[in-house]
Amino acid sequence: MMNLKKIFANNREWVAKKLQIDKKYFDSLSEDQNPDILYIGCSDSRVSAEELMGVGPGEVFVHRNIANMIPNTDLSTMSTIHYAVDYLKVNHIVVCGHYHCGGVEAAMQSTDLGILNPWLRNIRDVYRLHRKELDSIQDERAKYDRLVELNVQEQCINLIKTPEVQKAYRSRKITVHGWIFDIYSGKLLDLNINLEFLLKEIMEIYHLD
Ligand code: CO
Repeated sequence: MMNLKKIFANNREWVAKKLQIDKKYFDSLSEDQNPDILYIGCSDSRVSAEELMGVGPGEVFVHRNIANMIPNTDLSTMSTIHYAVDYLKVNHIVVCGHYHCGGVEAAMQSTDLGILNPWLRNIRDVYRLHRKELDSIQDERAKYDRLVELNVQEQCINLIKTPEVQKAYRSRKITVHGWIFDIYSGKLLDLNINLEFLLKEIMEIYHLD
C-alpha cells in the first residue's frame, strides 16, 4: 500500500530541490500560467501526462478522464476546453490515448457497468462507426489497440465540433493532435491526424458561425 506520509516527504524534497536551483521558483510559479498546450488524456495511473512528456509545472494545461473522452455534454471537459482555448489561448490541443486502455476494453464487454455505461457508450459508438475495419482484425489485443487509436481520432473530431476550436482555428490556426502513449514501449506516437482534411469533411455538418 502507498504510504501517504511518504508523499509529503517526497513533496518536501521536491520543494527543496526546486529552491536549490532557483530561489524564486515558487514566486514566479505563483504569478501566472501561460501554457501553449492543452493535453486531454486518460486517468490511467500508468499514463502520467507530465512525466511521459518530460514537461514541468506551467507548461501544459492538463485534463484527464476515463479513456480520454470529449463528450459534448460533459461540463468538466467542455469548461476545460473553453478556458484553455479562449482564456489561456493555447495553440495546440492534444488528445492522448494509450494502448491497453481499461476504459476502452471495458466498453467492449456486454456488462452493465452502472454510471460507466453512458460514459463508455461513446466508445461503442466509435466501434459502430469503424466496425468493418475492427471486425477484420483477428488478434484481440491488436483490435483493442486499433480501437484506442480510432477513439483518439473520433475525440479529435469532437474537439473540432466545439465553437471554441472552430473560432480559434479561423483566427489563429490552432492545431489538434492525436497521440498514443504506447504502454508496451513507453514511446509517444503521433497519429498524424489531418485536421485540414477532417475539417473539410465534417464542417458542412458541424459548422458554427
Ligand atoms: Co485508459
